[in-house]
Amino acid sequence: MDIFVIRGGNRLEGEVKLSGSKNATLPIEVAAAILADSPSIIRNAPDLRDVRFMGNLLEHLGVKVEYESSTLRVDPRTLSGYEAPYEFVSQMRASIYVLGPLLARFGRAKVSFPGGCAFGPRPVDLHIKGMEALGAQVRIEHGYIIAEAEKLKGREMDLLGPHGSSVGATGNVMMAATLAEGVTVIRGAAREPEIVDLARFLNAMGARIEGAGTPVITIYGVRELHGVEHTVIPDRIEAGTFMVAAAITRGSVRVKGAVSQHVEAVSEKLSEVGISMEWDENGVKVSWDGTLKAVDVRTSPFPGFPTDMQPIITSLLAVIPGISVVTETVYYERFKHASELNRMGADIRIEANTAIIHGVERLSGAPVMASDLRSGAALVVAGLAAEGETTVSRVYHIDRGYEHLERKLTALGADISRQSI
Ligand code: UD1
Repeated sequence: MDIFVIRGGNRLEGEVKLSGSKNATLPIEVAAAILADSPSIIRNAPDLRDVRFMGNLLEHLGVKVEYESSTLRVDPRTLSGYEAPYEFVSQMRASIYVLGPLLARFGRAKVSFPGGCAFGPRPVDLHIKGMEALGAQVRIEHGYIIAEAEKLKGREMDLLGPHGSSVGATGNVMMAATLAEGVTVIRGAAREPEIVDLARFLNAMGARIEGAGTPVITIYGVRELHGVEHTVIPDRIEAGTFMVAAAITRGSVRVKGAVSQHVEAVSEKLSEVGISMEWDENGVKVSWDGTLKAVDVRTSPFPGFPTDMQPIITSLLAVIPGISVVTETVYYERFKHASELNRMGADIRIEANTAIIHGVERLSGAPVMASDLRSGAALVVAGLAAEGETTVSRVYHIDRGYEHLERKLTALGADISRQSI
């Protein structure tokens, strides 16, 4: 098992280039494998455990998937299966993305019912609601979601859930509806850039989707989709992570590839804290510029402050004098990082879905454990600024979503190494 060993205190300086977005690549990989009838080439795909893992699931369904130098080659011509077994779904929830495309392609899909995750329950009722709205019969049997439909039929539906829009359900239904008969209208649709990138990919394949990036998406069903070449958007959560890493180390980092509209909520929050940001067409330069001030943060679906950045900005707020209040409205229980940060000397109290942070002067390095991807990133960021040595265990969580994190940080001047224990 790998750990990260970090000796904190170095200012980060220089330039870092973002990788492609994990959360855009995963559904695009699925669409290329299941919806198209000819091969696709997906460029700027990050070299990540989750991307390879999705490749394994698609190979299990009979598809050929090759990955080399940030390029995925997906050949769907041998697609034959319609079942995503427990061994895949239990390891990666995004496996649920095959539900809609399989249903559209085969008229049936059998996908293991995903469980909760490290930061609380993660239901799939909106995915099921969407498939039912398209005319599928859905039942849960022996831990599997079994969906069947002779032919999917376009319909109007509202996919807004109790915590706002759902990225996964929007993407899943959008993919299924491309091959449905007639017109589908999704109200309460997620507006995340990853949904826009997926729609761009599907439209290039021959789909007719309008309104992606707004709360109402209209999909005009087509008969078939063909493979295409596509370049995935840069990863906005990786962008935010390096922006915070620059801020917490009092450094100055140019984040190459950052798209200002994708990270607006994060950059507004960092400005409010007192971090300076200079944008140009290639990205953003983030610099520490004197005293920082405590702020309140409330997560919400895009264009709001992303829940995936919540643990990471918490690390920064933990070392800013004053009281910051972080409210999590997407995943109420996503606070596993707080107790680990407290082991490093932070003063964070959790009350319901709120973290009350009393900023401390300094964190002190300690052995800590990543419990999920973004909490792991939060601990790495905290370790960069802490006094002495921090060891972060369960690095495999971090490897799901950050390409060469330690290499990129080392190039910026951090003292971080990966060790196998
Ligand atoms: C995606 C991201 C994840 C991010 C999340 C929210 C991927 C692979 N993962 O996850 O990194 O944290 O968006 O930005 O893109 N919900 C329901 N019923 C459902 C589905 C979701 O109630 O059927 C709820 C969830 O519990 C959560 C909220 O809706 O409270 C948003 O979840 P959703 O956008 O679906 O997250 P994912 O697509 O799973």
